[in-house]
Amino acid sequence: MAAPPFHVTDDFAWNLEHFVIPEHYAPDLASVMISHGLIQDRIDRLANDICKAYDFHGSGARLHMLCVLKGGHQFFSDLCNALKKLTLVGVKEPPLTFDFIRVKSYHNTESSGDITIETVGIDLPSLKGRNILLVEDIIDTGATMSKLVPYLQSYEPTSVRVATLLKKRTPKSNGFEADFTGFSIPDKFVVGYCLDYNEVYRDMEHICIMNESGIKRHAK
Ligand code: HPA
Ligand code: MG
Repeated sequence: MAAPPFHVTDDFAWNLEHFVIPEHYAPDLASVMISHGLIQDRIDRLANDICKAYDFHGSGARLHMLCVLKGGHQFFSDLCNALKKLTLVGVKEPPLTFDFIRVKSYHNTESSGDITIETVGIDLPSLKGRNILLVEDIIDTGATMSKLVPYLQSYEPTSVRVATLLKKRTPKSNGFEADFTGFSIPDKFVVGYCLDYNEVYRDMEHICIMNESGIKRHAK
């Protein structure tokens, strides 16, 4: 069984001064919520949990990982690397294959509720009989996953599970729970580690909380 998520408390904040923060982003940030190092440590543990859940070293189900772009790309990449290291020996069948799927729903800091799914390059009928693991950066309202999971199930995979780095504790949640969750976080808008605000901040290592000036400056 996967361990429970790391619970980031409501008032948790690290001072920006303790970290290397890009000069052009620092004035728009309130604090660091999750450091890059802690993200990596947590991913190592999630990779262990995933190895056990799919019994790679036993009966060995092959996993088809679906990266949810764009935000999930860094988590996907680090999770794949961690899984590759854990499956170097003692695994008979190739354990991992992957594809990319693109989903859009956000405008400024609000979910638009209007979700578009782009599956360019995926041979959807070939998902039949596969074990799919969706890899997502954040589950906020749950609207994206509640649309994506049934969409993929319609192609008759053997299983669809979800790994998310972050799960927001928000009253707007529709109750969707992932199978593997890195961190449970308070209801604040976060950026960094490929999470964006109107496409900005993806290229920052740590996951940070924005301040009001940042939200205004990059609003659309
Ligand atoms: N930050 C960035 N992207 C998001 C968030 C967030 O807090 N919630 C949903 N998408
Ligand atoms: Mg986003």
